[in-house]
Amino acid sequence: MENNIKRIDNFDDSREWEAFNQRVSAHAEYLEKYGNPYFIEHDSVLKDTSIVDNKEILNFGSYNYLGLSGDPEVNQAAKDAIDKYGTSASGSRLLTGERPLHRELERKIAEWKHTEDALVLVGGNSTNTTFIGNFCNENDLILYDLIIHSSITEGLRMSKAKSKRFSHNDYEMLERLVKKNRDKYEKILIVVEGVYSMDGDIAPIDEYVRIKKEYGCFLMVDEAHSAGVIGEHGGGVDEYFNLNPDDIDIKMGTMSKALGTVGGYLAGSKNLIEYLRFNLPGFVFSVGASPAIAGACLKSIEIIQRDNSRVKKLQENITTFVEEAKKRGFDTCLAEFSPITPIMIGDEELAFKLSMSMLYEDGILAPPAVYPAVPQKRARLRYCLTSDHKKEQIIHALDVLEKRYHEFKNEVK
Ligand SMILES: Cc1ncc(COP(=O)(O)O)c(C=O)c1O
Repeated sequence: MENNIKRIDNFDDSREWEAFNQRVSAHAEYLEKYGNPYFIEHDSVLKDTSIVDNKEILNFGSYNYLGLSGDPEVNQAAKDAIDKYGTSASGSRLLTGERPLHRELERKIAEWKHTEDALVLVGGNSTNTTFIGNFCNENDLILYDLIIHSSITEGLRMSKAKSKRFSHNDYEMLERLVKKNRDKYEKILIVVEGVYSMDGDIAPIDEYVRIKKEYGCFLMVDEAHSAGVIGEHGGGVDEYFNLNPDDIDIKMGTMSKALGTVGGYLAGSKNLIEYLRFNLPGFVFSVGASPAIAGACLKSIEIIQRDNSRVKKLQENITTFVEEAKKRGFDTCLAEFSPITPIMIGDEELAFKLSMSMLYEDGILAPPAVYPAVPQKRARLRYCLTSDHKKEQIIHALDVLEKRYHEFKNEVK
């Protein structure tokens, strides 16, 4: 049968390559003029500073919130695990990949997050995608925040469940959706983040808990940017909102941010985790986390539990940054208590120009976030704070931004 399909046998002729090139050309002028902010090589651990082009720069672009990546005790734990077990688990945990460190880490996460059990996977992103893609079936509904992370929306594309989104943090809209739909579905899963990664705001988790209880839904909270960060001891949303252990059904977290390693975890009831251990495709059909990572992450949680001075220092730095930014007239979006403290710039070119000139001329890294990561005309500089930053570094960075902003704002049209 005749059709109008044009056969493509060279990737360079594909729609995907064409769309990518259109996106690149939309930014090409800025990249050419100001330099490329992507794939910058850092030749060191990312702490308050890092090494770029053999120079020490002030780094406000890392997720090493508590400075645990590069911490001597955490490094040592990784090295000890390598000496004993090598660099790979060398198999799915179900078959040959299980090491004692995996279960030790999962028990530690469960204790830390006040759940009965936990499961550790090799990537944070893939943890969300495989869980969201497989937890619900065609009789279920998934309700999610409009600006939820891409790893969740990728899972939604895989899931057989219906899904609907509600406006950002709009728990009243969520409640209306739940009321309207509760009797039409078996399970309703509500998916939100603890702290949102582009605006730095804390979600109204207490309201979500109320709704999930009142209407009998499941609640999943992605704690990528809240675990280890909010709450007096960095306990995350449970501690911050003073929740009961089972108020949240699925506490998801990444090990790549405050915990200074890599991977994802799902923490919840014994039976849920038992089910996932034997059925979650992204766990069963994937290698176990490397023993070095399991050992390092276990040590990171032990450090957070024994001493909350890093968490306190991080929280102090957040307050300093937000207060000092506001004093200088900057809009810090919704940031208040989280380490992601964006400064709204609006114009994309200005954001590129500020970011690149501060990096190359002032030795300060504050990465730009532009469309499609954020809405059009809402470009921002995404400062991330860590416990290693010093007050003087924060003030210096904001002084430089203020100076550069006034210098450039009329130049860029
Ligand atoms: C909210 C959120 N969830 C999940 C992830 C994925 O985590 P990872 O980078 O550890 O794969 C990220 C990454 O930035 C994130 O911001």
